[in-house]
Amino acid sequence: MLHNFNKKVLIRYNIVLITMSRKFMSIIKNDFEKQNITKIKNSKNNKKLTMITAYDALFAKLFEEVADMILVGDSLNMSFAGQSDTLSATLDQMIYHTKAVCKGAPNSFVILDMPFGSYINKNEALENSIRVYRETNAAAVKIEGGADRADIIEHLRKNSIAVMGHIGLMPQYVRSEGGYKVRGKTKEDVAQLVADAIAVEKAGAFAIVAEGIKTQAALEITKAVQIPVIGIGAGNVTDGQVLVWSDMLGFFEDFKPKFVRHYLDGASLVKNAVNQYRSDVQDSSFPSKDEEY
Ligand code: KIV
Repeated sequence: MLHNFNKKVLIRYNIVLITMSRKFMSIIKNDFEKQNITKIKNSKNNKKLTMITAYDALFAKLFEEVADMILVGDSLNMSFAGQSDTLSATLDQMIYHTKAVCKGAPNSFVILDMPFGSYINKNEALENSIRVYRETNAAAVKIEGGADRADIIEHLRKNSIAVMGHIGLMPQYVRSEGGYKVRGKTKEDVAQLVADAIAVEKAGAFAIVAEGIKTQAALEITKAVQIPVIGIGAGNVTDGQVLVWSDMLGFFEDFKPKFVRHYLDGASLVKNAVNQYRSDVQDSSFPSKDEEY
């Protein structure tokens, strides 16, 4: 009798465990939603969007189930190619890295950052964006510029290219602006930024990156448009955040912008691991018997 009772309790206990773990799995699964333009737009006021950069298949695969959007940023010219700014990145380079990212994260919403000089007028922008769509599986392109680039965004949208805008501190303007300058410090600049955001939205962008902006200005921008505003160095008032992967994982050591949070001390971990490897090689503890044929 007691034996039967124990058996019943055990079965019940197992059923509860299985149901709980299924529920838990479905929570994890539901959290990752394959994105498209409509879902991204509908996220405004519903869910904060997480965007991260990636430049290769290896890391893209790691980010696939977490990020709502993966940006192949022209920041790769600095952290990956070792240049001092983004300006010398080429379209060939961006396409090469985007292909790799799409291969590593085939279910992700991948955005290619159009490099400096690849959208100087409507026709070149369209020709280059068509090349991006033909040669990669990118879902969209990103373009730096506000009201001054609205005509280009509109032309791309009319020709079925999905466009993400980028306003505020725009790294491709670094040489013409004489440095990286935080925006939104004066009333006039806030008004300009809001006008930029509205122009980019009107032109047909599905979302806007707002970079290096005072938090109050970022709030006004976010409220002024119906499309999601993804902030970087713009406080926590936007509809989502984007970080450069090598910054947030602590691999990029040259400098740490104020807005970056290190979620990993990547550089130290790698250096320690490689030092350990060298020491194992030097004292012949690597490879071991288990690691030989
Ligand atoms: O190039 C890049 O990584 C970017 C992000 C900083 C938004 O444009």
